[in-house]
Amino acid sequence: MKTVTLGGTGIQIPLLAMGAASLGSIYHPVSQRQANETVAAALTHGVNYFDVAPYYGLTKSEIALQGVAQRDYTLATKVGRYGDSLWDFSRGATLQSVEQSLARLKVDYIDVIQCHDVEYGNQQQLREEALPTLRELRASGVVRHIGITGYRLDVLERLAVDQQVDTVMAYCTWTLQDRRLGAVASRLQQAGIGVLNASPLSMGLLTQTGAPDWHQAHQDVQKVCRAVAALCDRQGVNLAQVALQFALTTAAEQGIASTVIGTASAENMLENIRWSEQPVDTALLGHIESIMAPVLNIGWDVLPCNGGKAQK
Ligand SMILES: NC(=O)c1ccc[n+]([C@@H]2O[C@H](COP(=O)([O-])OP(=O)(O)OC[C@H]3O[C@@H](n4cnc5c(N)ncnc54)[C@H](OP(=O)(O)O)[C@@H]3O)[C@@H](O)[C@H]2O)c1
Repeated sequence: MKTVTLGGTGIQIPLLAMGAASLGSIYHPVSQRQANETVAAALTHGVNYFDVAPYYGLTKSEIALQGVAQRDYTLATKVGRYGDSLWDFSRGATLQSVEQSLARLKVDYIDVIQCHDVEYGNQQQLREEALPTLRELRASGVVRHIGITGYRLDVLERLAVDQQVDTVMAYCTWTLQDRRLGAVASRLQQAGIGVLNASPLSMGLLTQTGAPDWHQAHQDVQKVCRAVAALCDRQGVNLAQVALQFALTTAAEQGIASTVIGTASAENMLENIRWSEQPVDTALLGHIESIMAPVLNIGWDVLPCNGGKAQK
């Protein structure tokens, strides 16, 4: 897997990274054996940046990585979100969360610690407690880089620049259906901030099986995506393939360092890696873009959940 420098952090990360929220059983039940096989498939091919959070599966995704040696991967985890509607950016919660993540993951330090879904929760607390506390932890070596994550690009950009964070991870906004991250990512990259594009399959919306029932995309968007899936089906191509290849082949020109895909299947991870090495079918992409045009850049206002539902 080709690597890239993540903004000004100096760390080399793969162009395709693994979002391990799926290991918290947020899409379907996942056993530790499946988690181990998926992680092993990723690591074997150089996909060694793993993004987790205490929120995903209510600690299950972090626990799923316990057996992976710290030297084998770059770890990104989060603070601040602890339930579907539960944020706490206080100093006490931040210190406790980092300490608990270190213990759960059995690591000595965290490469990238991110404030989770920053458009929610108490903004004053985020700026005056969580971020300063993380800077202290960075100075003492407990965390190496500080990032923020979320969906609202205006909030992410303003906060990232004001607070001079190291990384920004946005989700579902650089995909076949939504291109809003592009301009923002370019500006952030210019400012030396590492940008990660999470959810290139728009949390399952851009797959043959379609979005999970908790997905917040508008019904018009879902309908068009189903039409695109049907087109891909007729052509014998997997929509996930085109969606991933679109995100990967356009990332660099937008200033996006890495694309963070989620799967809890070793087979799908291997497929994703194989697809990452192939060019996108430009004729099919053009056809999809014309069908997608009426719903391009239509996002949602309601918070997607399910990270808090750890299924066995
Ligand atoms: N606020 C935030 O900080 C935030 C928000 C969203 C995402 N993220 C990060 O980004 C990561 C990725 O996002 P995501 O997992 O939610 O969405 P995603 O990567 O867009 O899509 C995941 C879905 O796609 C399926 N999939 C993956 N590869 C596939 C393949 N080859 N063929 C068919 N289906 C495939 C997965 O199912 P299978 O498991 O069956 O493969 C899962 O249902 C998360 O794990 C998380 O780390 C962060």
